[in-house]
Amino acid sequence: MNQNAAIVKTLPDAQTVTSVQHWTDRLFSFRVTRPQSLRFRSGEFVMIGLLDERGKPIMRAYSIASPNWDEELEFYSIKVPDGPLTSRLQHIQPGDQIILRPKPVGTLVLDALLPGKRIWFLATGTGIAPFASLMRDPETYERYEQVIMMHTCREQAELEYGRQLVESLKDDPLIGEMVGDKLLYYPTTTRETSDRMGRITDNLSSGKVFEDLGVPKMNLEEDRAMVCGSLQFNLDVKTVLESFGLREGANSEPLQYVVEKAFVGDGI
Ligand code: FAD
Ligand code: A2P
Repeated sequence: MNQNAAIVKTLPDAQTVTSVQHWTDRLFSFRVTRPQSLRFRSGEFVMIGLLDERGKPIMRAYSIASPNWDEELEFYSIKVPDGPLTSRLQHIQPGDQIILRPKPVGTLVLDALLPGKRIWFLATGTGIAPFASLMRDPETYERYEQVIMMHTCREQAELEYGRQLVESLKDDPLIGEMVGDKLLYYPTTTRETSDRMGRITDNLSSGKVFEDLGVPKMNLEEDRAMVCGSLQFNLDVKTVLESFGLREGANSEPLQYVVEKAFVGDGI
Protein backbone atom coordinates (compact mmCIF):
# COMPACT_ATOMS: atom_id res chain seq x y z
CA MET A 1 0.00 0.00 0.00
CA ASN A 2 1.42 3.42 -0.89
CA GLN A 3 1.56 6.40 1.44
CA ASN A 4 -1.22 8.34 -0.28
CA ALA A 5 -3.58 5.46 0.12
CA ALA A 6 -2.85 5.22 3.83
CA ILE A 7 -3.76 8.89 4.29
CA VAL A 8 -6.98 8.58 2.32
CA LYS A 9 -8.14 5.83 4.66
CA THR A 10 -9.14 8.41 7.25
CA LEU A 11 -11.55 10.18 4.86
CA PRO A 12 -15.31 9.55 4.88
CA ASP A 13 -15.57 8.91 1.12
CA ALA A 14 -12.74 6.33 0.94
CA GLN A 15 -13.22 3.15 -1.13
CA THR A 16 -10.84 0.20 -1.43
CA VAL A 17 -9.22 -0.84 -4.70
CA THR A 18 -9.98 -4.52 -5.44
CA SER A 19 -8.17 -5.01 -8.76
CA VAL A 20 -6.07 -3.14 -11.33
CA GLN A 21 -5.31 -4.02 -14.95
CA HIS A 22 -2.87 -2.16 -17.16
CA TRP A 23 -3.76 -2.25 -20.87
CA THR A 24 -1.05 -0.05 -22.40
CA ASP A 25 1.46 2.44 -21.03
CA ARG A 26 -1.33 5.05 -21.31
CA LEU A 27 -4.41 3.09 -20.23
CA PHE A 28 -5.52 1.07 -17.21
CA SER A 29 -8.72 -0.05 -15.54
CA PHE A 30 -9.46 -0.70 -11.90
CA ARG A 31 -12.26 -1.80 -9.62
CA VAL A 32 -13.16 -0.46 -6.18
CA THR A 33 -15.66 -1.30 -3.48
CA ARG A 34 -19.08 0.29 -3.99
CA PRO A 35 -20.53 2.56 -1.32
CA GLN A 36 -23.66 0.80 -0.03
CA SER A 37 -25.81 3.86 -0.55
CA LEU A 38 -24.63 4.55 -4.11
CA ARG A 39 -27.34 4.25 -6.76
CA PHE A 40 -26.58 5.40 -10.29
CA ARG A 41 -27.90 5.16 -13.82
CA SER A 42 -25.60 3.36 -16.26
CA GLY A 43 -23.63 6.00 -18.19
CA GLU A 44 -23.25 8.48 -15.32
CA PHE A 45 -19.99 9.78 -13.83
CA VAL A 46 -18.72 10.52 -10.32
CA MET A 47 -15.79 12.47 -8.87
CA ILE A 48 -12.88 10.32 -7.73
CA GLY A 49 -9.46 11.25 -6.43
CA LEU A 50 -6.48 10.94 -4.14
CA LEU A 51 -4.83 13.26 -1.65
CA ASP A 52 -1.78 15.27 -2.70
CA GLU A 53 1.35 15.39 -0.56
CA ARG A 54 -0.17 18.22 1.52
CA GLY A 55 -3.31 16.22 2.20
CA LYS A 56 -5.50 18.15 -0.25
CA PRO A 57 -7.87 16.06 -2.41
CA ILE A 58 -7.20 16.03 -6.19
CA MET A 59 -10.59 15.14 -7.63
CA ARG A 60 -11.53 14.40 -11.26
CA ALA A 61 -14.68 13.33 -13.11
CA TYR A 62 -14.77 9.61 -14.04
CA SER A 63 -17.45 7.68 -15.87
CA ILE A 64 -18.53 4.57 -14.03
CA ALA A 65 -17.64 1.76 -16.45
CA SER A 66 -19.48 -0.98 -14.55
CA PRO A 67 -23.23 -1.53 -14.86
CA ASN A 68 -25.57 -0.44 -12.07
CA TRP A 69 -26.19 -4.04 -10.92
CA ASP A 70 -22.49 -4.71 -10.23
CA GLU A 71 -21.39 -5.09 -6.58
CA GLU A 72 -18.21 -3.14 -7.30
CA LEU A 73 -17.43 -0.04 -9.36
CA GLU A 74 -15.11 -0.18 -12.37
CA PHE A 75 -13.23 2.71 -13.95
CA TYR A 76 -11.20 2.93 -17.17
CA SER A 77 -8.45 5.52 -17.05
CA ILE A 78 -5.88 7.41 -19.02
CA LYS A 79 -2.37 7.88 -17.58
CA VAL A 80 -1.35 11.50 -18.19
CA PRO A 81 2.41 11.61 -17.45
CA ASP A 82 2.29 14.94 -15.57
CA GLY A 83 -1.40 14.83 -14.76
CA PRO A 84 -2.06 15.90 -11.17
CA LEU A 85 -4.33 12.91 -10.53
CA THR A 86 -3.36 10.17 -12.99
CA SER A 87 0.42 10.47 -12.44
CA ARG A 88 -0.47 9.10 -8.98
CA LEU A 89 -3.59 7.09 -9.71
CA GLN A 90 -1.75 4.87 -12.21
CA HIS A 91 0.25 3.40 -9.29
CA ILE A 92 -2.73 2.22 -7.20
CA GLN A 93 -2.77 -1.41 -6.15
CA PRO A 94 -5.37 -3.73 -4.61
CA GLY A 95 -5.85 -2.77 -0.97
CA ASP A 96 -5.16 0.93 -1.60
CA GLN A 97 -7.90 3.47 -1.04
CA ILE A 98 -9.24 6.23 -3.27
CA ILE A 99 -11.74 9.00 -2.58
CA LEU A 100 -15.11 8.60 -4.30
CA ARG A 101 -17.84 11.21 -3.95
CA PRO A 102 -21.10 9.25 -4.24
CA LYS A 103 -23.01 11.81 -6.33
CA PRO A 104 -23.48 10.38 -9.84
CA VAL A 105 -24.53 12.74 -12.66
CA GLY A 106 -24.37 12.85 -16.45
CA THR A 107 -26.20 13.12 -19.74
CA LEU A 108 -25.40 9.69 -21.23
CA VAL A 109 -28.44 7.97 -19.76
CA LEU A 110 -31.13 5.98 -21.53
CA ASP A 111 -33.87 8.27 -20.18
CA ALA A 112 -32.41 11.21 -22.14
CA LEU A 113 -33.41 9.64 -25.46
CA LEU A 114 -36.76 9.06 -27.13
CA PRO A 115 -37.57 5.40 -27.90
CA GLY A 116 -36.02 4.06 -31.10
CA LYS A 117 -34.96 0.91 -32.92
CA ARG A 118 -31.17 1.21 -32.80
CA ILE A 119 -28.82 2.91 -30.36
CA TRP A 120 -25.34 4.01 -31.45
CA PHE A 121 -22.56 4.37 -28.88
CA LEU A 122 -19.85 6.57 -30.46
CA ALA A 123 -16.56 6.82 -28.56
CA THR A 124 -12.87 7.52 -28.91
CA GLY A 125 -10.22 6.54 -26.35
CA THR A 126 -11.44 6.42 -22.74
CA GLY A 127 -14.78 7.72 -24.01
CA ILE A 128 -15.83 4.07 -24.13
CA ALA A 129 -16.13 4.04 -20.31
CA PRO A 130 -19.81 5.09 -20.01
CA PHE A 131 -20.69 2.60 -22.76
CA ALA A 132 -18.85 -0.17 -20.93
CA SER A 133 -21.55 0.41 -18.35
CA LEU A 134 -24.47 0.76 -20.77
CA MET A 135 -23.41 -2.30 -22.82
CA ARG A 136 -23.73 -4.36 -19.63
CA ASP A 137 -27.14 -2.96 -18.64
CA PRO A 138 -30.13 -5.21 -19.48
CA GLU A 139 -32.27 -2.11 -19.96
CA THR A 140 -30.23 -1.15 -23.04
CA TYR A 141 -31.30 -4.41 -24.71
CA GLU A 142 -34.89 -4.09 -23.49
CA ARG A 143 -35.19 -0.67 -25.10
CA TYR A 144 -33.42 -1.29 -28.42
CA GLU A 145 -33.44 -3.98 -31.12
CA GLN A 146 -29.83 -3.24 -32.02
CA VAL A 147 -26.97 -1.74 -30.04
CA ILE A 148 -24.01 -0.52 -32.10
CA MET A 149 -20.69 0.20 -30.38
CA MET A 150 -18.29 2.25 -32.55
CA HIS A 151 -14.94 2.74 -30.80
CA THR A 152 -11.95 4.39 -32.43
CA CYS A 153 -8.37 4.70 -31.23
CA ARG A 154 -5.05 5.32 -32.90
CA GLU A 155 -3.76 1.78 -32.32
CA GLN A 156 -5.17 -1.70 -31.82
CA ALA A 157 -3.77 -2.10 -28.29
CA GLU A 158 -5.92 0.86 -27.20
CA LEU A 159 -9.06 -1.00 -28.30
CA GLU A 160 -8.29 -4.07 -26.18
CA TYR A 161 -10.27 -3.13 -23.05
CA GLY A 162 -13.42 -2.65 -25.13
CA ARG A 163 -12.74 -5.70 -27.27
CA GLN A 164 -12.41 -8.03 -24.29
CA LEU A 165 -15.46 -6.54 -22.63
CA VAL A 166 -17.63 -7.09 -25.72
CA GLU A 167 -16.21 -10.61 -26.10
CA SER A 168 -17.07 -11.44 -22.48
CA LEU A 169 -20.70 -10.35 -22.85
CA LYS A 170 -21.65 -13.35 -25.00
CA ASP A 171 -20.96 -15.74 -22.13
CA ASP A 172 -22.13 -13.46 -19.35
CA PRO A 173 -24.51 -15.48 -17.16
CA LEU A 174 -26.63 -12.44 -16.35
CA ILE A 175 -27.04 -10.66 -19.70
CA GLY A 176 -25.43 -12.96 -22.30
CA GLU A 177 -28.80 -14.17 -23.54
CA MET A 178 -30.24 -10.67 -23.78
CA VAL A 179 -27.21 -9.41 -25.71
CA GLY A 180 -27.41 -12.29 -28.23
CA ASP A 181 -26.93 -10.89 -31.74
CA LYS A 182 -28.22 -7.46 -30.76
CA LEU A 183 -24.81 -5.97 -30.04
CA LEU A 184 -22.82 -4.95 -33.13
CA TYR A 185 -19.23 -3.97 -32.36
CA TYR A 186 -17.36 -1.72 -34.80
CA PRO A 187 -13.83 -0.94 -33.59
CA THR A 188 -11.49 1.04 -35.84
CA THR A 189 -7.94 2.31 -35.73
CA THR A 190 -6.70 5.46 -37.42
CA ARG A 191 -2.91 5.24 -37.23
CA GLU A 192 -2.14 1.52 -37.13
CA THR A 193 -3.20 -0.76 -39.95
CA SER A 194 -6.00 -3.12 -38.88
CA ASP A 195 -9.02 -4.95 -40.35
CA ARG A 196 -11.22 -1.88 -39.90
CA MET A 197 -9.92 1.62 -40.10
CA GLY A 198 -11.05 5.24 -40.13
CA ARG A 199 -12.51 7.96 -37.96
CA ILE A 200 -16.08 7.51 -36.70
CA THR A 201 -17.10 10.74 -38.43
CA ASP A 202 -15.77 9.50 -41.79
CA ASN A 203 -17.26 6.01 -41.50
CA LEU A 204 -20.67 7.53 -40.72
CA SER A 205 -20.54 10.28 -43.38
CA SER A 206 -19.40 7.94 -46.14
CA GLY A 207 -22.03 5.35 -45.20
CA LYS A 208 -19.31 2.67 -44.87
CA VAL A 209 -20.42 1.56 -41.42
CA PHE A 210 -24.06 1.10 -42.54
CA GLU A 211 -22.88 -1.03 -45.45
CA ASP A 212 -20.47 -3.07 -43.33
CA LEU A 213 -23.08 -3.77 -40.64
CA GLY A 214 -26.05 -4.17 -42.99
CA VAL A 215 -28.15 -1.54 -41.25
CA PRO A 216 -30.14 1.30 -42.84
CA LYS A 217 -28.64 4.76 -43.10
CA MET A 218 -29.04 6.61 -39.81
CA ASN A 219 -32.43 8.30 -39.62
CA LEU A 220 -34.63 10.34 -37.30
CA GLU A 221 -37.32 7.70 -36.81
CA GLU A 222 -35.17 4.69 -35.91
CA ASP A 223 -31.74 5.81 -34.68
CA ARG A 224 -30.58 7.17 -31.34
CA ALA A 225 -26.99 8.01 -30.40
CA MET A 226 -24.72 8.75 -27.45
CA VAL A 227 -21.37 10.44 -28.03
CA CYS A 228 -18.29 10.54 -25.78
CA GLY A 229 -14.86 11.80 -26.83
CA SER A 230 -12.75 14.96 -26.96
CA LEU A 231 -14.53 18.28 -27.41
CA GLN A 232 -13.56 18.45 -31.11
CA PHE A 233 -14.66 14.86 -31.71
CA ASN A 234 -18.00 15.59 -30.05
CA LEU A 235 -18.52 18.71 -32.15
CA ASP A 236 -17.65 16.92 -35.38
CA VAL A 237 -19.90 13.95 -34.58
CA LYS A 238 -22.75 16.31 -33.73
CA THR A 239 -22.48 17.85 -37.21
CA VAL A 240 -22.69 14.38 -38.77
CA LEU A 241 -25.65 13.31 -36.61
CA GLU A 242 -27.50 16.54 -37.40
CA SER A 243 -26.91 15.88 -41.11
CA PHE A 244 -28.91 12.66 -40.65
CA GLY A 245 -31.71 14.70 -39.03
CA LEU A 246 -31.03 13.74 -35.39
CA ARG A 247 -31.36 16.44 -32.69
CA GLU A 248 -29.58 16.78 -29.35
CA GLY A 249 -31.64 15.95 -26.27
CA ALA A 250 -31.13 16.08 -22.53
CA ASN A 251 -32.47 14.53 -19.33
CA SER A 252 -35.06 17.31 -19.24
CA GLU A 253 -35.94 17.01 -22.94
CA PRO A 254 -35.34 13.57 -24.48
CA LEU A 255 -34.63 13.64 -28.24
CA GLN A 256 -32.41 11.60 -30.59
CA TYR A 257 -28.85 11.99 -29.26
CA VAL A 258 -26.83 13.08 -26.23
CA VAL A 259 -23.19 14.08 -25.81
CA GLU A 260 -20.62 14.16 -23.01
CA LYS A 261 -16.96 15.13 -22.94
CA ALA A 262 -14.58 12.24 -22.20
CA PHE A 263 -12.15 14.81 -20.78
CA VAL A 264 -11.59 18.53 -20.63
CA GLY A 265 -8.82 19.36 -23.08
CA ASP A 266 -5.89 21.73 -22.69
CA GLY A 267 -6.97 25.35 -22.65
CA ILE A 268 -10.69 24.50 -22.59
P1 FAD B 1 -5.70 16.68 -16.04
O1 FAD B 1 -5.01 17.91 -15.57
O2 FAD B 1 -7.13 16.51 -15.63
O3 FAD B 1 -5.60 16.56 -17.60
C1 FAD B 1 -4.41 16.92 -18.28
C2 FAD B 1 -4.63 16.81 -19.77
O4 FAD B 1 -4.65 15.44 -20.13
C3 FAD B 1 -5.97 17.38 -20.28
O5 FAD B 1 -5.88 18.76 -20.53
C4 FAD B 1 -6.20 16.57 -21.52
O6 FAD B 1 -5.50 17.14 -22.60
C5 FAD B 1 -5.56 15.22 -21.20
N1 FAD B 1 -6.56 14.20 -20.77
C6 FAD B 1 -7.22 14.16 -19.58
N2 FAD B 1 -8.05 13.09 -19.53
C7 FAD B 1 -7.90 12.45 -20.71
C8 FAD B 1 -8.51 11.27 -21.25
N3 FAD B 1 -9.41 10.55 -20.55
N4 FAD B 1 -8.13 10.90 -22.48
C9 FAD B 1 -7.22 11.62 -23.20
N5 FAD B 1 -6.62 12.74 -22.73
C10 FAD B 1 -6.96 13.15 -21.50
N6 FAD B 1 -10.80 10.21 -17.78
C11 FAD B 1 -10.60 8.90 -17.81
O7 FAD B 1 -9.46 8.46 -17.94
N7 FAD B 1 -11.65 8.02 -17.70
C12 FAD B 1 -12.93 8.44 -17.56
O8 FAD B 1 -13.85 7.62 -17.45
C13 FAD B 1 -13.17 9.84 -17.54
N8 FAD B 1 -14.44 10.33 -17.44
C14 FAD B 1 -14.63 11.68 -17.50
C15 FAD B 1 -15.94 12.17 -17.47
C16 FAD B 1 -16.17 13.55 -17.57
C17 FAD B 1 -17.59 14.07 -17.57
C18 FAD B 1 -15.06 14.45 -17.67
C19 FAD B 1 -15.29 15.94 -17.77
C20 FAD B 1 -13.78 13.97 -17.64
C21 FAD B 1 -13.55 12.59 -17.57
N9 FAD B 1 -12.25 12.07 -17.58
C22 FAD B 1 -12.05 10.71 -17.63
C23 FAD B 1 -11.06 12.95 -17.51
C24 FAD B 1 -10.60 13.04 -16.03
O9 FAD B 1 -11.52 13.84 -15.32
C25 FAD B 1 -9.19 13.63 -15.86
O10 FAD B 1 -8.99 14.72 -16.69
C26 FAD B 1 -8.11 12.59 -16.14
O11 FAD B 1 -8.21 11.56 -15.18
C27 FAD B 1 -6.69 13.17 -16.05
O12 FAD B 1 -6.51 13.74 -14.79
P2 FAD B 1 -5.13 14.41 -14.41
O13 FAD B 1 -5.33 15.19 -13.14
O14 FAD B 1 -4.05 13.39 -14.39
O15 FAD B 1 -4.84 15.40 -15.59
P1 A2P C 1 -6.79 10.45 -35.77
O1 A2P C 1 -5.69 9.47 -35.51
O2 A2P C 1 -7.19 10.53 -37.22
O3 A2P C 1 -6.51 11.80 -35.17
P2 A2P C 1 -6.48 10.95 -29.65
O4 A2P C 1 -5.57 9.79 -29.39
O5 A2P C 1 -5.84 12.10 -30.36
O6 A2P C 1 -7.25 11.37 -28.43
O7 A2P C 1 -7.59 10.42 -30.67
C1 A2P C 1 -8.30 9.24 -30.42
C2 A2P C 1 -8.97 8.79 -31.70
O8 A2P C 1 -9.99 9.73 -32.04
C3 A2P C 1 -8.01 8.72 -32.87
O9 A2P C 1 -8.29 7.55 -33.60
C4 A2P C 1 -8.33 9.98 -33.64
O10 A2P C 1 -8.12 9.86 -35.05
C5 A2P C 1 -9.81 10.15 -33.38
N1 A2P C 1 -10.21 11.55 -33.47
C6 A2P C 1 -9.60 12.60 -32.89
N2 A2P C 1 -10.24 13.75 -33.15
C7 A2P C 1 -11.29 13.43 -33.94
C8 A2P C 1 -12.33 14.19 -34.56
N3 A2P C 1 -12.41 15.50 -34.42
N4 A2P C 1 -13.23 13.51 -35.30
C9 A2P C 1 -13.15 12.18 -35.45
N5 A2P C 1 -12.20 11.41 -34.88
C10 A2P C 1 -11.27 12.01 -34.14
